[in-house]
Amino acid sequence: MKRIFSGIQPTGSLHIGNYLGAMVNFLALQETREAIYCVVDYHALTIRPDPDRLRDRVRHVGLGYLAAGIDPEKAILFRQSDVPEHAELAWILGCFTQIGELSKMTQFKDKARQHKENVNAGLFTYPVLQAADILLYKAEEVPVGEDQAQHLELSRDIARRFNNHYGPTFPEPATLLSQAPRVLGLDGEQKMSKSKNNEIGILDPPEVIQQKLRIAKTDEARQRRTDPGEPTRCNVFTWHTFFTPDAEREELAKGCREAGIGCVDCKKVLFERMNAVLAPIRERHEELKAKGWEYVDQVLLEGGRKARAIAGETMKEVREKVGLLPEPGGGA
Ligand code: AMP
Ligand code: TRP
Repeated sequence: MKRIFSGIQPTGSLHIGNYLGAMVNFLALQETREAIYCVVDYHALTIRPDPDRLRDRVRHVGLGYLAAGIDPEKAILFRQSDVPEHAELAWILGCFTQIGELSKMTQFKDKARQHKENVNAGLFTYPVLQAADILLYKAEEVPVGEDQAQHLELSRDIARRFNNHYGPTFPEPATLLSQAPRVLGLDGEQKMSKSKNNEIGILDPPEVIQQKLRIAKTDEARQRRTDPGEPTRCNVFTWHTFFTPDAEREELAKGCREAGIGCVDCKKVLFERMNAVLAPIRERHEELKAKGWEYVDQVLLEGGRKARAIAGETMKEVREKVGLLPEPGGGA
């Protein structure tokens, strides 16, 4: 069975961008692949979060993914820092990564611009740690949103370079995009993101979703209810693609073009359809929360144990190949 890996940052709450861009694939792939999903708390340190808050966020994200349907019987869900081999492999792979490559990374350039006061080396080598995450498990495919494509290309380059030097060790991991690799936010312009405040959270209460949809940008050329609209220019309509069945969506498109329906009506349908997907997630979230944090902690801990067993095997091979002892202390 092919092994896949993906990472999720423990920052903020999950939104429909994460859901459509990555999670939909996470859910499908746990059925057909050996799936490993990791909450990347080492990565989160690049922005020096408050310690208690970071611990808390890891659990919240874990709970969010379980609520959305990640099944610990089928997939491994774990906390990155429970497997310190991630950091160890990152060091080794860093020696196979050029500074020039890292300075080209768009995410680094964006983050460096956003946090001018703290452009630390961790932020710079973030993609190396990401490569280590994936290669540690010799994953063959990585389900992610489009924003991660560049990092994955680098992961493949690093794997290839290591293989060329030491002999075949790592598969070159393929990027697996969903049908919605770049979901735009409520503003209809920028990528939906927690840092841009333009998101619909997958756990947002129905009233909040309704409120957010009310302000969501539609076709700007459609100023009045009587103006005909163009669905292909409307971000709200793109969301229908993922939540609303084809026939109903065609009806809406026709209504929009003929000014038979208004944006308010169209958003009402979207709300119903979206809510039908999100309501069961909210319910399950409540159920799991009622079990207390012990449940999530237990899932993450158990996942970490399984992950570490795989990671240990890879590290033995890597350590030996690069000229370290196969195990710390020689395994004695
Ligand atoms: P993050 O929460 O930033 O770690 O993202 C988790 C996953 O969701 C990654 O695979 C991202 O590429 C994906 N993702 C995040 N935002 C979006 C978006 N607006 N559209 C599509 N995919 C996204
Ligand atoms: N960098 C990814 C993001 O910003 C998170 C991530 C860390 C990741 N390690 C990974 C994704 C490994 C895929 C594979 O969303």
